[in-house]
Amino acid sequence: MPYDAGMKSMLAELRECFSAALETAFGERGRGIDPLVKPSSDTKFGDYQCNVAMSLGKSLAMKPREVAERLVEGVSQVLSRGQPWFFVQIDGPGFVNIRLRREYLEELLSSIPAEQADDRLGVMPATAAQRQTVVVDYSSPNVAKELHVGHLRSTIIGDTICRVLGFCGHDVIRQNHLGDWGTQFGMVILGIWHIFAGRKRGEPAGWLEQGTTELAAAQQTSDKAVLDWLARTYAQQEKDLAADLEGREFEKFLREYVPTLDELLPAYRFVNAVETAAEKTGFDRTAEGKRIPLSAVSNYVVKMLQEGGEQNRQEREAWRLSIRASLDACNALYRRLGVLLVDEDVRGESFYHEMLAGVVEELKGRLATPTGAGDARAVCRLDKGAVCVFLEKPDGAPMFKGAQGDPLPMIAQKSDGAYLYSTTDLAAALFRISHPQRNRVEVTSRALADALAAKGGGLGADRILYVVGEQRLHLQMVFATIDALGWKRRAGRPDVDLEHVAFGWVLGDDHKPLKTRTGENVKLRELLDESERRARALIDENDAKRAELGLEALSEEEKRDIALAVGIGSVKYADLSQNRTTNYVFNWEKMLAMQGNTAPYLMYAYARIRSIHRKAASGAATAGAVLALTEPVEIALGKHILQLGETLEIVAHTLAPNLLCEYLYGLAAAFMRFYETCPVLQAGDEKTRASRVRLCDLAARTLRVGLGLLGIRAMERM
Ligand code: ARG
Repeated sequence: MPYDAGMKSMLAELRECFSAALETAFGERGRGIDPLVKPSSDTKFGDYQCNVAMSLGKSLAMKPREVAERLVEGVSQVLSRGQPWFFVQIDGPGFVNIRLRREYLEELLSSIPAEQADDRLGVMPATAAQRQTVVVDYSSPNVAKELHVGHLRSTIIGDTICRVLGFCGHDVIRQNHLGDWGTQFGMVILGIWHIFAGRKRGEPAGWLEQGTTELAAAQQTSDKAVLDWLARTYAQQEKDLAADLEGREFEKFLREYVPTLDELLPAYRFVNAVETAAEKTGFDRTAEGKRIPLSAVSNYVVKMLQEGGEQNRQEREAWRLSIRASLDACNALYRRLGVLLVDEDVRGESFYHEMLAGVVEELKGRLATPTGAGDARAVCRLDKGAVCVFLEKPDGAPMFKGAQGDPLPMIAQKSDGAYLYSTTDLAAALFRISHPQRNRVEVTSRALADALAAKGGGLGADRILYVVGEQRLHLQMVFATIDALGWKRRAGRPDVDLEHVAFGWVLGDDHKPLKTRTGENVKLRELLDESERRARALIDENDAKRAELGLEALSEEEKRDIALAVGIGSVKYADLSQNRTTNYVFNWEKMLAMQGNTAPYLMYAYARIRSIHRKAASGAATAGAVLALTEPVEIALGKHILQLGETLEIVAHTLAPNLLCEYLYGLAAAFMRFYETCPVLQAGDEKTRASRVRLCDLAARTLRVGLGLLGIRAMERM
């Protein structure tokens, strides 16, 4: 992707200036070259540096030092057209160090408008030409399974990416690609039927869990015990079925039933256990004459669901109810986590169902012979009855290989006619790329074109982000197929950009994926309960020290609210502050520490600055105060505040939220250094005091906006 997140920042201004200088100095040969300007690694030498002289020296066959000298000459020519706003100095073999003028920093800081509802701190949004439509696929859990920590990262990282891109002025379309159309739904629907049958029989609460436990116990005893248990269960099931053969009562039940996920899960587990046991023990064979083998009932139910139609409306209804229950549970967690996702963002796998036959037709038609420009070629052919897409490099070598080195295809339709996860992802990508006005993607399959049109014609994305852990191979195959189909290409515009925003694992103390002591996935809900509990303990602990620190006392209600914000904020921040692509160890002490790169540290820093600000009172007088950066620590803080824009540019480009965390941590540190050396309330004169109060205000607002982009609530008092 070209580096262009769209906002004018100090870095972007410098880049522009150095580009112009390159052209001034070297004419045609200096045009269109990335000037390689970046923040200095050591502020001793300057604020930014330009390293282009090294590489340019090579291509121009000149000494880098000479290149640098001419570049600096070019810079002064460019700068002479206006107010000079930085100094340059050549260092070593040809590095150009850049130091921003103090007056420039003061001017920029002064130009930041007073606080308003949608505080932007002077950061400009993307221009109309730069604005992109970005689809972000994140969270995307599978229905009828509870969210666990594995879903945490996708949800938190994806949400921050949405917020940052939105702040940068892009049109963000969130997509919760819910797993709502798998074979598991047969079991869920059947589970709901068992709940119905149990209620009718007057079974006590918890009877399904009880059943699963009994079966497990029988499995510990003997095959005979299992077979007996299955026979009893089966007989009961047959009896219940016979009593309501048409399903009239079931239908009536469904009309009033409001399930919760807590009720559905045990039912699902029960069915799963029964079917697995029936299959393993060969129970199906022992009881001849059964209409549907006990191990395959859910399969049968799935077929009915997918077939649809009037005769299968009960299955439809039960399916709908189970999705509602799952979504309610998800939404509760999203609210609690402060995540933006709402029902309107859900576009689950089922949404694409009507497009799948067309997708397969398109693959067969378009990829009948090896097709594709660029890096990927694809050919679609039948392999043991399945519709397969084989992906090749331009020289015909397979792009993906199985364990034996054989070509590994992406399967689009199984020999029994079933579509796969990949088929749905192809349909989803087409829907996301295509747009009825802005980007009509050419497809040859009539069925596909019609299905797409019936769904409104698509979203028209310029960039699509898949925030998904693992699944690298799957997404690579899908992306390569889309490439070969030509769906990404647009006349006169850059290709649509599809990116896998991958992330590592959350590990436990043992450095293995985080599990509970009993080896189960940790439930997100319980994790958040614990973080709030621990945050509360922390607040109570600090209570005693409040007066010492010059902080106001807190009411019980405030404490509760703060515990919530700190608890959730800590979990989120601990995740976001890690390099996204690596694994990290989940550690309560570390994430709740009051020192270091943590949420509590930043939140306290914010609250402290606010408290200073409150004491300085008369905000109105300081809002227009003249900003004078006299001390080096003041200059450093001011500069840091002004780097919010370029930090966000980089985050929007790299999709690495940890860079925003580092920025905020650096900001808090710069503030502390300032506060230690520069008295604010006790400043020598009124002018200095007003200037410093204003600087405090800007620092606090920057912290708050930054934390807000991480989805963390900054508290006014802590
Ligand atoms: N539901 C999937 C899972 O939980 C994630 C979906 C990711 N998005 C996608 N378009 N494949 O594994």
